[in-house]
Amino acid sequence: MTNITVRIKRFNPDTDDKPRWQDYTVALDTEKTVLDALEEIKSEQDGSLTFRRSCRHAICGSCAMMVNRKNGLVCTKPLKEAVEEVGFFGAKNTVTIEPLPYLPVIKDLVVDQSVFWQQYEAVRPWVIPVENIPTKEFRMSQAEVDAMNRAETCIMCGACYSSCPVIAGNKSYIGPHALLKLFLRVMDPRDTEIEARLDQIANDNGAFRCHKVSNCIGACPKGLNPAQAISALGNMALRANKLSQARAERLKTLIAQVEASASE
Ligand code: FES
Repeated sequence: MTNITVRIKRFNPDTDDKPRWQDYTVALDTEKTVLDALEEIKSEQDGSLTFRRSCRHAICGSCAMMVNRKNGLVCTKPLKEAVEEVGFFGAKNTVTIEPLPYLPVIKDLVVDQSVFWQQYEAVRPWVIPVENIPTKEFRMSQAEVDAMNRAETCIMCGACYSSCPVIAGNKSYIGPHALLKLFLRVMDPRDTEIEARLDQIANDNGAFRCHKVSNCIGACPKGLNPAQAISALGNMALRANKLSQARAERLKTLIAQVEASASE
């Protein structure tokens, strides 16, 4: 059986000034996932290695990390597949594992997701229903159901959030995870807060802050498309004339600058 190197970015705030790399040797087995390799290292080689995981079945979202510089879930990533990818260092038979970027590291592969959850809560991702629930069912078109289905399987792992270059520089941006939840509520015929939600979408840290880089699409382990949902939300807010005066002025200035530079 081939041995491979698992190179892990480690950081212990009690003893390290900055992150450091540590290599471990693991036998490559076609059945193993990257999470299995981490478990093996922790139980047989180094009990101090720290990471999150729970369900092992791509349900809880707690095991999101960066493997070979790409965000994803380690519980569903086959170790063999990770070895066959070209690693960040280009080293043969080496898998590199790092914590999710753009979030403070608590220890080793565990990041502080406080801001991520605060933004999620700020969009009130739950249904706010009418007081008197009607006796008849709420109707939706098949297209609306399909659109919701494509967003509903989000497991809040943070892979999209920490792949977003806007988040890297601006933690006030609501973020792809929370905007995807807003999309679900805006599409939901039972929800009564459409006006307030459209205001939130149109504010300075809402959908118009997205730079359309679309890293979130490639990062999502569930194959969802937060970028498309954000575009749809932006269009809804525009159609509802929800763009704030300040934002509209900035957009006008930007358009004028682009036109001026194009005519030079
Ligand atoms: S351990 Fe739950 S998603 Fe990976």
